[in-house]
Amino acid sequence: MTGASTLVVRPAKNVAGALRLPGDKSISHRYAMLGAIADGTTRLENFSTGADCASTLRCLRALGVEWERSENTVVIHGRGGTLQAPKNPLDCGNSGSTMRMLSGILAGQKFTSELTGDESLTRRPMARIISPLELMGARIVAAAAGRPPLRISGGQLKSIDYKMPVASAQVKSALLFAGLFAEGETGVQEPVRTRDHGELALRAFGAQVSQHGLEARIAGGQELHAIEATVPGDLSSAAFFLCAAALFPGSQIVISDLLMNPTRARLLDILITMGVGISVTQLEERHGELVGTVHVEGRDLKGALIAGADTAALIDEIPVLAAIAPYTSDGVEVRDARELRVKESDRIAAIATNLQKMGAKVEEREDGLKIPGGQQLHGAEIDSQGDHRIAMAFAVAALRAEGETTIRGADAAVISYPGFFQALETLAQR
Ligand code: S3P
Repeated sequence: MTGASTLVVRPAKNVAGALRLPGDKSISHRYAMLGAIADGTTRLENFSTGADCASTLRCLRALGVEWERSENTVVIHGRGGTLQAPKNPLDCGNSGSTMRMLSGILAGQKFTSELTGDESLTRRPMARIISPLELMGARIVAAAAGRPPLRISGGQLKSIDYKMPVASAQVKSALLFAGLFAEGETGVQEPVRTRDHGELALRAFGAQVSQHGLEARIAGGQELHAIEATVPGDLSSAAFFLCAAALFPGSQIVISDLLMNPTRARLLDILITMGVGISVTQLEERHGELVGTVHVEGRDLKGALIAGADTAALIDEIPVLAAIAPYTSDGVEVRDARELRVKESDRIAAIATNLQKMGAKVEEREDGLKIPGGQQLHGAEIDSQGDHRIAMAFAVAALRAEGETTIRGADAAVISYPGFFQALETLAQR
């Protein structure tokens, strides 16, 4: 470390070791929110250590929800559906999940609340939740072009049948959560399959949610009941280690207690087609979520084409797949990924610029990237642009570069995985 948020990553010869990851971010947000509106006391072990999930907990406290946290165990005292009007604007920090999914619950509350966030969140599109929640009867005032802050006046909602124009699990969950406060049955149809943690979490808390093809339906007025759960390890955080292992033929890592939900595990299939040796043992189901132990062995790395439904399924893993792309034999092409431009940063631009700084040839497209294989990168000064996944993706790329790589804004990793750089150091062999 050469400064609070600047980190130097040295090349490695190999990666090896065993680890267990902090709880999945997507599931931690949903369990915390549903625990808050359930009857009874919810106990969550291995809760995400990321700052984003801490933002959700902070907002819940401001809405009158009592909770205690000791290390990674969070105990939430549910309020049974009725939250308290907050005294101040709710600060969602960097977390789009907090703002979008909490909006679904706030739309059903009989008070007005305001949601704000940091500079990055303030640039992110919210029209995708505003339009359907307004159709359900909430009144929402946003800044220009549907950007935050949002001022939500909620109350009794009416059910809708909604066809989502954008593939977004956050929007789907927000609408299913709002559906709990609606009269009648709410239906949400998505254009391609996205992660189903909202549906599974609602069921874990005792609600009935039906699923047919790309549609999920929920009847309003259902009560939720507290659960005791251990959150499975975060697969999107594990992606950085899986891709680090993919870089070194002969590497071996084992990750136990990892989320294996089929709507999240597409990365494993893609890495297998790229030549990585992967096997899963000790598969079990917990509250509807699959969990297992993943064994990874690096071999010669082939290329990949990521497009269509795969792009949606891999949306959080594309930065690290792109960062290792130059080291593959045939390159990686990413299509249909316009959504990446409206994440915590414009991830298509951030990936292209940083790969170029490391000496790679990259073709940046409006909705994707084409990165040729067979390229040797050199160490450079990388800018995370305040985006956790960019900081971590380039720390992985740096392991195979010639010379040292400096990552500016490395502290962005705290958003999803505060212990990331220490864990990567432990695995790296030099
Ligand atoms: C998430 C869904 C995805 C993903 C984000 C978490 C979720 O966002 O990128 O990190 O927990 O539902 P979108 O819903 O915007 O696709």
